[in-house]
Amino acid sequence: MKKWIDRLAQGKSLDDNILSDLLTCNDADILSYLHQQARETSLTIFGNSVYIRGLIEVSNCCRNDCYYCGIRKSNTLVERYRLTKEDILDCCATGYNLGFRTFVLQGGEDRALSISVLTDIVTSIRNQYPDCAITLSLGEMSRHDYQTLYDAGANRYLLRHETYDEKHYSLLHPYEMSFSHRINSLKALREIGFQTGTGIMVGSPGQTVEHLIQDIRFIESFKPQMVGIGPFIPHSQTPFASEQPGSIEQTLTLISIFRLMLPHALIPSTTALASLSKDGRERGILAGANVVMPNLSPTNIRKNYSLYNNKASLGAESAEGLKLLKDQLQRIDYTISYSRGDFH
Ligand code: 5AD
Repeated sequence: MKKWIDRLAQGKSLDDNILSDLLTCNDADILSYLHQQARETSLTIFGNSVYIRGLIEVSNCCRNDCYYCGIRKSNTLVERYRLTKEDILDCCATGYNLGFRTFVLQGGEDRALSISVLTDIVTSIRNQYPDCAITLSLGEMSRHDYQTLYDAGANRYLLRHETYDEKHYSLLHPYEMSFSHRINSLKALREIGFQTGTGIMVGSPGQTVEHLIQDIRFIESFKPQMVGIGPFIPHSQTPFASEQPGSIEQTLTLISIFRLMLPHALIPSTTALASLSKDGRERGILAGANVVMPNLSPTNIRKNYSLYNNKASLGAESAEGLKLLKDQLQRIDYTISYSRGDFH
């Protein structure tokens, strides 16, 4: 197995059966070799520093009804909110003072955040913070709207494909949502010039190793600049309430595979990983991740942006907790990079 890991580290592609063995491997020695190779690749390219992105959860209103997600439109128990432009600019001001140079605006597909409202917000952030990157994570839109936001000054876009298997996609999403529309949105984002991120939940209901191999093949050929990988975590007010959470080990395996496959990619150690395990964030970094996204949202609304149960938003997962994060990173010999951290 180690020889296959070396091949991956040399930029070679692995056959399906080897990927399958890696994805199901639970030999501690081999996994630690995989993580070590991925970590070394990361250290060579980025050094021992981790980029920080300030996450602003702009709205939990959503027209979609994804079966896994706590803010799906059918969840009537959610207290819905939408930040105003002023709220968002306040978050940016707080974040800027803390040292953040990337703001990530994430939210549900909220019709009230129309393209003109969003353009106004992006334009204001762009004017006030010319030295900062603006990342959007607001779901599917028309190519024209993506272009408008890019022209207004947004630089990056996160849109996980969730699964590259069409049947599996329709097991996770209602009929109105289409796999091909998701993939076409990603292609449009890329063509417009966004640094584009995609990714999956690990262990989502119905996911098989074959599906994960399809995801790896897609990411291998699409070559996104960012890859978001987190474990699926059930939310009690969704149809998947009684499903099992995804495996931390398999999440770490995938982070390492993507680090070796796309050495320059920006790979976050995700909130879901940190939520599922006390040392999840550190383990993600030690497996090759190089980004963390602390929460910059107003503290009173964080509980309402509940995509899954027990989602971390405090402590080192929060922007105010930067000192804690710094301490945690220091314990594993890493530091925070305060630079914009664009893809090169
Ligand atoms: N568990 C883990 N991740 C989730 N997401 C949504 N719901 C869940 C869940 N229950 C992820 C999706 C989405 C991102 C914003 O959050 O992958 O793309």
